[in-house]
Amino acid sequence: MKTFTIEHNLEMNKSSIKKSLLEYCMMNCLGKQKSYLFRERAYKLKKNEQEKFNGMVRALKSSIPVAYVLGNQPFFNYTFEVNSNVLIPRPETEIMISHILDCGDKIYKRTGNMTILDLGAGSGCIGLTIAAERKNWNVILTEKFYSCADIIKQNMFALKVTNCHFIIMDWLRGLRENLADIIVSNPPYIEYESILVDDNVKNFEPNTALFAEEKGLSDIKKIIESSQETLKENGYLFLENGYDQSDDVVNLLREHDYRDIQVFMDYNKIHRFTCSRKI
Ligand SMILES: C[S@@+](CC[C@H](N)C(=O)[O-])C[C@H]1O[C@@H](n2cnc3c(N)ncnc32)[C@H](O)[C@@H]1O
Repeated sequence: MKTFTIEHNLEMNKSSIKKSLLEYCMMNCLGKQKSYLFRERAYKLKKNEQEKFNGMVRALKSSIPVAYVLGNQPFFNYTFEVNSNVLIPRPETEIMISHILDCGDKIYKRTGNMTILDLGAGSGCIGLTIAAERKNWNVILTEKFYSCADIIKQNMFALKVTNCHFIIMDWLRGLRENLADIIVSNPPYIEYESILVDDNVKNFEPNTALFAEEKGLSDIKKIIESSQETLKENGYLFLENGYDQSDDVVNLLREHDYRDIQVFMDYNKIHRFTCSRKI
Protein backbone atom coordinates (compact mmCIF):
# COMPACT_ATOMS: atom_id res chain seq x y z
CA MET A 1 0.00 0.00 0.00
CA LYS A 2 1.27 3.43 -0.97
CA THR A 3 1.63 6.05 1.74
CA PHE A 4 1.40 9.82 1.32
CA THR A 5 2.20 13.01 3.20
CA ILE A 6 -0.41 14.82 5.31
CA GLU A 7 -0.62 17.53 2.64
CA HIS A 8 -1.11 15.09 -0.21
CA ASN A 9 -3.80 13.11 1.66
CA LEU A 10 -5.77 16.26 2.43
CA GLU A 11 -5.40 17.70 -1.06
CA MET A 12 -6.36 14.58 -3.00
CA ASN A 13 -9.63 14.08 -1.12
CA LYS A 14 -10.78 17.67 -0.75
CA SER A 15 -13.10 17.63 -3.77
CA SER A 16 -15.30 14.88 -2.29
CA ILE A 17 -15.07 15.50 1.50
CA LYS A 18 -15.20 18.71 3.52
CA LYS A 19 -11.74 19.94 4.52
CA SER A 20 -12.58 20.18 8.21
CA LEU A 21 -13.75 16.56 8.20
CA LEU A 22 -10.59 15.37 6.51
CA GLU A 23 -8.57 17.21 9.14
CA TYR A 24 -10.57 15.58 11.95
CA CYS A 25 -9.90 12.17 10.44
CA MET A 26 -6.20 12.93 10.06
CA MET A 27 -5.99 14.16 13.69
CA ASN A 28 -7.74 10.97 14.79
CA CYS A 29 -5.40 8.72 12.74
CA LEU A 30 -2.23 10.40 13.97
CA GLY A 31 -3.46 11.08 17.51
CA LYS A 32 -2.37 14.73 17.10
CA GLN A 33 -3.84 18.21 17.46
CA LYS A 34 -4.79 20.36 14.48
CA SER A 35 -1.67 22.53 14.85
CA TYR A 36 0.46 19.45 14.11
CA LEU A 37 -1.22 19.06 10.72
CA PHE A 38 -0.19 22.59 9.74
CA ARG A 39 3.31 22.33 11.19
CA GLU A 40 4.13 18.94 9.72
CA ARG A 41 2.48 19.07 6.26
CA ALA A 42 5.34 17.03 4.80
CA TYR A 43 5.05 14.20 7.34
CA LYS A 44 4.61 10.91 5.50
CA LEU A 45 2.01 8.65 7.12
CA LYS A 46 3.08 5.24 8.40
CA LYS A 47 1.40 2.23 6.80
CA ASN A 48 -1.08 1.69 9.65
CA GLU A 49 -1.94 5.43 9.74
CA GLN A 50 -2.50 5.50 5.98
CA GLU A 51 -4.67 2.38 6.20
CA LYS A 52 -6.82 3.95 8.92
CA PHE A 53 -7.13 7.23 7.02
CA ASN A 54 -8.11 5.45 3.78
CA GLY A 55 -10.75 3.49 5.70
CA MET A 56 -12.21 6.69 7.11
CA VAL A 57 -12.28 8.36 3.71
CA ARG A 58 -14.01 5.32 2.20
CA ALA A 59 -16.58 5.34 5.04
CA LEU A 60 -17.28 9.06 4.62
CA LYS A 61 -17.68 8.64 0.86
CA SER A 62 -20.32 5.98 1.46
CA SER A 63 -22.23 8.42 3.72
CA ILE A 64 -21.52 6.69 7.04
CA PRO A 65 -22.20 9.33 9.72
CA VAL A 66 -19.09 11.19 10.84
CA ALA A 67 -19.58 10.20 14.50
CA TYR A 68 -19.39 6.51 13.55
CA VAL A 69 -16.34 7.11 11.37
CA LEU A 70 -14.51 8.99 14.13
CA GLY A 71 -15.95 6.75 16.83
CA ASN A 72 -17.11 9.57 19.07
CA GLN A 73 -19.53 12.46 19.43
CA PRO A 74 -19.42 15.54 21.68
CA PHE A 75 -22.41 15.83 24.01
CA PHE A 76 -22.91 18.39 26.78
CA ASN A 77 -19.46 18.85 28.40
CA TYR A 78 -18.13 15.46 27.32
CA THR A 79 -17.15 13.30 24.39
CA PHE A 80 -18.98 9.98 24.06
CA GLU A 81 -17.63 6.96 22.28
CA VAL A 82 -20.15 5.62 19.79
CA ASN A 83 -20.45 2.78 17.32
CA SER A 84 -23.22 1.62 15.02
CA ASN A 85 -24.95 -0.25 17.89
CA VAL A 86 -25.95 3.01 19.57
CA LEU A 87 -27.78 6.17 18.56
CA ILE A 88 -25.54 9.19 17.96
CA PRO A 89 -26.27 11.62 20.83
CA ARG A 90 -28.26 14.62 19.61
CA PRO A 91 -28.07 18.32 20.61
CA GLU A 92 -31.82 18.41 21.41
CA THR A 93 -31.26 15.85 24.15
CA GLU A 94 -28.66 18.15 25.75
CA ILE A 95 -31.38 20.71 26.51
CA MET A 96 -33.28 18.12 28.53
CA ILE A 97 -30.19 17.47 30.69
CA SER A 98 -30.03 21.10 31.86
CA HIS A 99 -33.66 20.94 33.00
CA ILE A 100 -33.12 17.61 34.77
CA LEU A 101 -30.13 19.01 36.67
CA ASP A 102 -32.19 22.02 37.82
CA CYS A 103 -35.12 19.84 38.86
CA GLY A 104 -32.86 17.34 40.64
CA ASP A 105 -30.97 20.07 42.48
CA LYS A 106 -34.24 21.23 44.08
CA ILE A 107 -35.16 17.70 45.16
CA TYR A 108 -31.65 17.00 46.46
CA LYS A 109 -31.64 20.23 48.47
CA ARG A 110 -34.91 19.20 50.12
CA THR A 111 -34.29 15.49 50.68
CA GLY A 112 -30.50 15.04 50.65
CA ASN A 113 -30.60 12.19 48.17
CA MET A 114 -31.40 11.54 44.55
CA THR A 115 -31.95 8.40 42.50
CA ILE A 116 -32.40 8.91 38.80
CA LEU A 117 -33.22 6.34 36.13
CA ASP A 118 -32.18 6.70 32.48
CA LEU A 119 -34.27 4.26 30.42
CA GLY A 120 -32.88 3.16 27.04
CA ALA A 121 -29.37 4.40 27.71
CA GLY A 122 -27.82 3.73 24.26
CA SER A 123 -24.36 5.32 24.47
CA GLY A 124 -25.15 6.34 28.05
CA CYS A 125 -25.07 10.02 27.10
CA ILE A 126 -28.00 11.07 29.32
CA GLY A 127 -27.35 9.04 32.46
CA LEU A 128 -23.56 9.32 32.40
CA THR A 129 -23.64 13.08 31.81
CA ILE A 130 -25.92 13.47 34.82
CA ALA A 131 -23.68 11.18 36.89
CA ALA A 132 -20.62 13.21 35.90
CA GLU A 133 -22.31 16.54 36.61
CA ARG A 134 -23.73 15.47 39.99
CA LYS A 135 -21.37 13.12 41.80
CA ASN A 136 -23.65 12.80 44.85
CA TRP A 137 -26.58 11.45 42.87
CA ASN A 138 -27.24 7.80 42.27
CA VAL A 139 -27.83 7.09 38.56
CA ILE A 140 -29.22 3.85 37.13
CA LEU A 141 -28.93 3.31 33.37
CA THR A 142 -31.06 0.65 31.72
CA GLU A 143 -30.97 -0.71 28.19
CA LYS A 144 -32.68 -3.62 26.44
CA PHE A 145 -29.87 -4.55 24.06
CA TYR A 146 -26.57 -6.18 25.10
CA SER A 147 -25.01 -4.73 21.97
CA CYS A 148 -24.89 -1.32 23.73
CA ALA A 149 -23.19 -2.65 26.86
CA ASP A 150 -19.56 -2.28 25.76
CA ILE A 151 -19.99 1.33 24.70
CA ILE A 152 -21.83 2.23 27.91
CA LYS A 153 -19.06 0.66 29.99
CA GLN A 154 -16.32 2.38 27.98
CA ASN A 155 -18.04 5.74 28.43
CA MET A 156 -18.57 5.08 32.13
CA PHE A 157 -14.83 4.45 32.43
CA ALA A 158 -13.84 7.45 30.28
CA LEU A 159 -16.01 9.83 32.33
CA LYS A 160 -14.64 8.29 35.55
CA VAL A 161 -18.11 8.05 37.09
CA THR A 162 -18.62 5.71 40.01
CA ASN A 163 -22.08 6.85 41.09
CA CYS A 164 -23.95 4.79 38.51
CA HIS A 165 -25.10 1.27 37.66
CA PHE A 166 -26.01 -0.26 34.36
CA ILE A 167 -28.74 -2.91 34.00
CA ILE A 168 -29.98 -4.77 30.94
CA MET A 169 -33.79 -4.74 31.06
CA ASP A 170 -36.99 -4.09 29.16
CA TRP A 171 -38.05 -0.56 30.16
CA LEU A 172 -39.11 -0.64 33.84
CA ARG A 173 -39.88 -4.33 34.12
CA GLY A 174 -38.51 -5.77 37.36
CA LEU A 175 -37.69 -2.49 39.12
CA ARG A 176 -39.04 -2.05 42.63
CA GLU A 177 -41.74 0.49 43.54
CA ASN A 178 -40.85 3.96 44.85
CA LEU A 179 -37.30 3.74 43.61
CA ALA A 180 -36.67 6.89 41.62
CA ASP A 181 -36.90 10.63 42.23
CA ILE A 182 -36.57 11.24 38.50
CA ILE A 183 -37.08 9.01 35.47
CA VAL A 184 -35.76 10.17 32.11
CA SER A 185 -36.02 8.55 28.71
CA ASN A 186 -35.34 9.34 25.09
CA PRO A 187 -37.13 6.28 23.72
CA PRO A 188 -37.55 5.20 20.09
CA TYR A 189 -40.38 7.41 18.78
CA ILE A 190 -40.31 7.50 14.99
CA GLU A 191 -43.23 5.93 13.18
CA TYR A 192 -42.13 3.02 10.95
CA GLU A 193 -43.60 4.48 7.77
CA SER A 194 -42.19 7.98 8.31
CA ILE A 195 -40.80 9.48 5.13
CA LEU A 196 -39.15 12.32 7.01
CA VAL A 197 -36.23 10.30 8.36
CA ASP A 198 -32.92 11.07 6.75
CA ASP A 199 -31.52 8.16 4.72
CA ASN A 200 -28.25 8.30 6.66
CA VAL A 201 -30.14 7.94 9.92
CA LYS A 202 -32.30 5.08 8.62
CA ASN A 203 -29.44 3.22 6.97
CA PHE A 204 -26.75 3.53 9.62
CA GLU A 205 -28.26 4.10 13.07
CA PRO A 206 -29.84 1.12 14.89
CA ASN A 207 -33.51 0.73 13.96
CA THR A 208 -34.22 -0.52 17.48
CA ALA A 209 -33.24 2.94 18.76
CA LEU A 210 -35.36 4.83 16.25
CA PHE A 211 -38.68 3.23 15.44
CA ALA A 212 -41.75 2.36 17.47
CA GLU A 213 -45.23 1.00 16.71
CA GLU A 214 -48.49 2.95 17.06
CA LYS A 215 -47.31 5.97 15.08
CA GLY A 216 -44.10 5.98 17.08
CA LEU A 217 -45.87 6.18 20.44
CA SER A 218 -45.80 2.58 21.70
CA ASP A 219 -42.63 2.85 23.81
CA ILE A 220 -43.60 6.27 25.16
CA LYS A 221 -46.94 4.74 26.21
CA LYS A 222 -45.27 1.80 27.96
CA ILE A 223 -42.98 4.13 29.90
CA ILE A 224 -45.81 6.47 30.93
CA GLU A 225 -47.98 3.53 32.00
CA SER A 226 -45.34 1.82 34.11
CA SER A 227 -43.34 4.74 35.49
CA GLN A 228 -45.93 5.72 38.12
CA GLU A 229 -45.06 2.67 40.24
CA THR A 230 -41.31 3.16 40.04
CA LEU A 231 -41.38 6.88 40.79
CA LYS A 232 -41.50 8.16 44.35
CA GLU A 233 -44.34 10.48 45.33
CA ASN A 234 -43.73 13.89 43.72
CA GLY A 235 -41.12 12.33 41.46
CA TYR A 236 -40.61 13.66 37.93
CA LEU A 237 -40.78 12.03 34.51
CA PHE A 238 -38.79 13.59 31.64
CA LEU A 239 -39.63 12.21 28.19
CA GLU A 240 -38.31 13.17 24.78
CA ASN A 241 -40.77 12.87 21.87
CA GLY A 242 -41.08 13.23 18.09
CA TYR A 243 -41.74 16.54 16.31
CA ASP A 244 -45.54 16.04 16.13
CA GLN A 245 -46.19 13.95 19.25
CA SER A 246 -46.29 16.54 22.00
CA ASP A 247 -50.11 16.76 22.24
CA ASP A 248 -50.46 12.98 22.32
CA VAL A 249 -47.81 12.69 25.01
CA VAL A 250 -49.46 15.39 27.13
CA ASN A 251 -52.82 13.57 26.84
CA LEU A 252 -51.23 10.27 27.83
CA LEU A 253 -49.58 11.89 30.84
CA ARG A 254 -52.91 13.40 31.94
CA GLU A 255 -54.67 10.04 31.52
CA HIS A 256 -52.09 8.50 33.82
CA ASP A 257 -52.47 11.14 36.53
CA TYR A 258 -49.32 13.10 35.89
CA ARG A 259 -49.54 16.74 36.96
CA ASP A 260 -47.65 20.04 36.39
CA ILE A 261 -46.99 18.97 32.81
CA GLN A 262 -44.49 21.24 31.10
CA VAL A 263 -43.56 21.09 27.41
CA PHE A 264 -40.10 22.25 26.31
CA MET A 265 -38.85 23.20 22.86
CA ASP A 266 -35.64 22.22 21.12
CA TYR A 267 -33.29 24.53 19.17
CA ASN A 268 -35.66 24.37 16.18
CA LYS A 269 -38.66 25.46 18.27
CA ILE A 270 -40.17 21.98 18.12
CA HIS A 271 -42.02 20.77 21.23
CA ARG A 272 -39.39 18.16 22.01
CA PHE A 273 -39.81 16.96 25.59
CA THR A 274 -42.08 17.00 28.60
CA CYS A 275 -41.52 17.16 32.31
CA SER A 276 -44.36 16.02 34.57
CA ARG A 277 -44.90 15.19 38.24
CA LYS A 278 -46.34 12.12 39.87
CA ILE A 279 -48.85 13.08 42.54
C1 LIG B 1 -33.57 7.01 20.88
S1 LIG B 1 -32.40 5.89 21.58
C2 LIG B 1 -31.75 6.88 22.90
C3 LIG B 1 -30.36 6.52 23.31
C4 LIG B 1 -29.75 7.51 24.30
N1 LIG B 1 -30.49 7.55 25.53
C5 LIG B 1 -29.70 8.88 23.68
O1 LIG B 1 -30.45 9.77 24.11
O2 LIG B 1 -28.89 9.09 22.76
C6 LIG B 1 -33.49 4.73 22.40
C7 LIG B 1 -32.77 3.66 23.19
O3 LIG B 1 -33.78 2.82 23.81
C8 LIG B 1 -33.35 1.47 23.71
N2 LIG B 1 -34.52 0.61 23.81
C9 LIG B 1 -35.39 0.23 22.84
N3 LIG B 1 -36.35 -0.56 23.33
C10 LIG B 1 -36.10 -0.71 24.65
C11 LIG B 1 -36.74 -1.41 25.72
N4 LIG B 1 -37.84 -2.14 25.50
N5 LIG B 1 -36.22 -1.33 26.96
C12 LIG B 1 -35.09 -0.59 27.19
N6 LIG B 1 -34.43 0.09 26.21
C13 LIG B 1 -34.93 0.04 24.97
C14 LIG B 1 -32.65 1.40 22.36
O4 LIG B 1 -31.80 0.29 22.26
C15 LIG B 1 -31.90 2.75 22.35
O5 LIG B 1 -30.63 2.62 22.94
